[in-house]
Amino acid sequence: MSKILVTGGAGYIGSHTVIELQKVGYEVVIVDNLSNSDSSVIERIEKISGIRPDFEEFDLCDQAAVATLFQKYSFSGIIHFAASKAVGESVEKPLLYYRNNLQSLINILESMRDYKVQNLVFSSSCTVYGQPEKLPVTENAPVQTAMSPYGNTKQISEEIIKDSVSAYQGIKAIALRYFNPVGAHESALIGELPIGVPLNLMPFITQTAIGLRQKLMVFGNDYNTTDGTCVRDYIHVSDLARAHVIAVERMMKGKNTNAYEFFNLGTGTGSTVLEVIQSFERTTGVKLNYEITGRRPGDVEQIYADTRFANEELGWKAEKTLDDMTASAWKWEKYYREVLSAS
Ligand code: NAD
Ligand code: WQD
Repeated sequence: MSKILVTGGAGYIGSHTVIELQKVGYEVVIVDNLSNSDSSVIERIEKISGIRPDFEEFDLCDQAAVATLFQKYSFSGIIHFAASKAVGESVEKPLLYYRNNLQSLINILESMRDYKVQNLVFSSSCTVYGQPEKLPVTENAPVQTAMSPYGNTKQISEEIIKDSVSAYQGIKAIALRYFNPVGAHESALIGELPIGVPLNLMPFITQTAIGLRQKLMVFGNDYNTTDGTCVRDYIHVSDLARAHVIAVERMMKGKNTNAYEFFNLGTGTGSTVLEVIQSFERTTGVKLNYEITGRRPGDVEQIYADTRFANEELGWKAEKTLDDMTASAWKWEKYYREVLSAS
């Protein structure tokens, strides 16, 4: 029985994608070294879907281990989430990011070549666009000089995949450029679990609301936006996960029009930081303690997706609202703190 390999499948977006794959009958093999996740996610995936995915714990930078994996299983598709993803950390430790994110991808591609596995979905990011000249941003927008080594690993990875698709007969790929994934599965059994002080907005909001953080610093309100705070295209992680199932099926069923395709995954709607806070307060009834401070270096003023290509070509559209996102993020935070971490 052929299976779908989900690398980084114990992580935030990967675990949600495993649920969506299982929902439509795919058998899943997760590979994860648990460098930014916890093995209890596997149990919680099984609790949600009733199906325990195969789980192999090892570092994808280990080329021999990856080859052994491809000898053990027959994969009909691969969704490659595994990477280090903290922008700030990548500035302090660039070589860790280049090694981890590029070596793991190269090992996957080499085994795809050697074991004739054709279909790869790659986790990319809207960060490749920098501050786009034109909004909403389409897939044809120019890739701009990366603002961090992390962003550079995504750009270089997209290039490595392009050259591999050209050189190695049969390999097809889809790069999914995520905007800002937030929220959690409706069961609240899985969600985003930042280690240490969260850098991203949504987990900082929920940790402030639950009392783990004293207050949220809003990084600047002097931008040229409706309320002066930055604009992002927040997308519910379950909507994002569904797009991965459609993308890997697109290639497995031979529906792709090019051997290498790119899709922006967003809602097409931008929200300011203050609008996210207002949504959180509306859906949870919790008054958030926050203060406006200075800008965060490297922040782009506004970015949101032109989703027409993904909507029309993939037949996929984000369905959940910002209120669904903030409500689910809060439900997960409470469940994690009150139940999971207490057990
Ligand atoms: P995450 O850290 O929750 O998940 C990544 C998983 O990969 C973790 O479980 C980690 O243990 C594993 N991993 C990392 N390096 C590995 C290695 N060498 N071998 C085996 N496992 C390894 O992150 P996420 O938010 O789920 O992101 C998943 C992917 O999506 C990443 O590639 C990330 O760059 C990309 N992405 C994330 C966002 C976001 O805001 N979360 C936005 C755009 C793109
Ligand atoms: C969103 C907005 C902040 C925290 C990053 C990476 C990107 C991708 C997603 C991996 C911004 C503001 C935030 C806080 C704040 N990750 N903010 N106070 O920066 O759009 O994207 O995560 O691929 O590559 O760059 O997301 O959640 O950090 O910030 O005011 O404590 O919230 O200024 O406007 P970002 P974010």
